Amino acid sequence: MSRIVYVNGAYLPEEEATVSIFDRGFLMADGVYEVTSVLGGKLIDFEGHVARLARSLAELDMAQPISHQELLAAHRELVARNEIDEGLVYLQVTRGNPGDRDFAFPDPETTPGTVVMFTQSKPGLANSPAAAAGIKVISIPDLRWHRRDIKTVQLLYPSMGKMAALAAGAGDAWLVEDGMVTEGTSNNAYIVKGHKIITRELSADILHGITRAAVLRYAAEAQMVVEERSFSIEEAQGADEAFVTSATTFVMPVVEIDGASVGAGTPGPVAGRLREIYLEESLKAAI
Ligand code: PDD
Repeated sequence: MSRIVYVNGAYLPEEEATVSIFDRGFLMADGVYEVTSVLGGKLIDFEGHVARLARSLAELDMAQPISHQELLAAHRELVARNEIDEGLVYLQVTRGNPGDRDFAFPDPETTPGTVVMFTQSKPGLANSPAAAAGIKVISIPDLRWHRRDIKTVQLLYPSMGKMAALAAGAGDAWLVEDGMVTEGTSNNAYIVKGHKIITRELSADILHGITRAAVLRYAAEAQMVVEERSFSIEEAQGADEAFVTSATTFVMPVVEIDGASVGAGTPGPVAGRLREIYLEESLKAAI
C-alpha cells in the first residue's frame, strides 16, 4: 500500500510527492532531520526532537519554516493516515529551492525551506529480536565533520561505516577519534563497568541524543551511577556490558566489539533493565 507523505503542507501519495532538483538538500546536503519513534500509535520524546530540530536550524542560520503546533499535527496526521502502530516518523527540513546551484545561501525571504515528512512502519520495534540477542560492532576512524551536534543529512560517512560493519558480519560501527569512541554511526555509545554507566560527555563531537537524555534521566532516577566521559575501544572490550541508544533502537545491547566478546558475550542486566525502564516510561509519556 502506498504511503501518504507530507511535502510543504500537502499530504500526498508517495508516488506524487516530489522535490526540485535544485533543492539544497539534494545538491548540498544542506538540511537537517529528526526521527521520532512511534509506539502504540503515539509519538515518543516528540518535544525533545522538536527542540533539537530548532537548535540544528539555528546553528545553520536556517529559518524555522513550520511551527511546533503544525509539526505535531502533521506527525499525528501521518501516523493516523498510514495506520502506524510501531515505527517512526522521519522529518527533514532543507534550505529550500533557490532555482539554481550556488554555494552562497539563498535569501530566506524568497526561498522558503522545504519540509518533508514520511512514516516507516516497523511492527515489532519494541520487542526486537536484535535487542534479545545484542549486536556486534566494529570500530572505524571517525572521519565526519566537527559539528556532529547538528543533525544534518550529511550521512555518507555513517552509511559507509554501516556498510563496513555489514561486510564484517557486524550490525554497526563505533567511530573512533584520538583513540576514543565518539558514538555509533546512528546512535550514542555506552559501556557499563561495575554497575557504573559510562558515556561520552556532550560536545560538538557527538549528536546530543534525545534517547540518551531520557535514558540518563531514568538511570539517575533508578539510583544508577552515570559517568559522562570518553572511553577507548580497549576499555569497552574489557567492560562488563556495552550498549547503544537511539530513537529507532531504544536501548540496544552490544555483545562484541572488533571480535572481542563484551562481558559474557550476551546482553547484560543493566542494558536490559534500562531498555525496560525506557520503554515503560516513554510509553507513559508518549503523545
Ligand atoms: N540517528 N548519534 C547519531 C550520529 C545519530 O544519527 C543518532 C540518531 C543518535 C541518537 O539520537 P536519538 O536518540 O535522538 O535518536 C546519536 C537516527 C535514529 C537516524 O539517523 O536514523
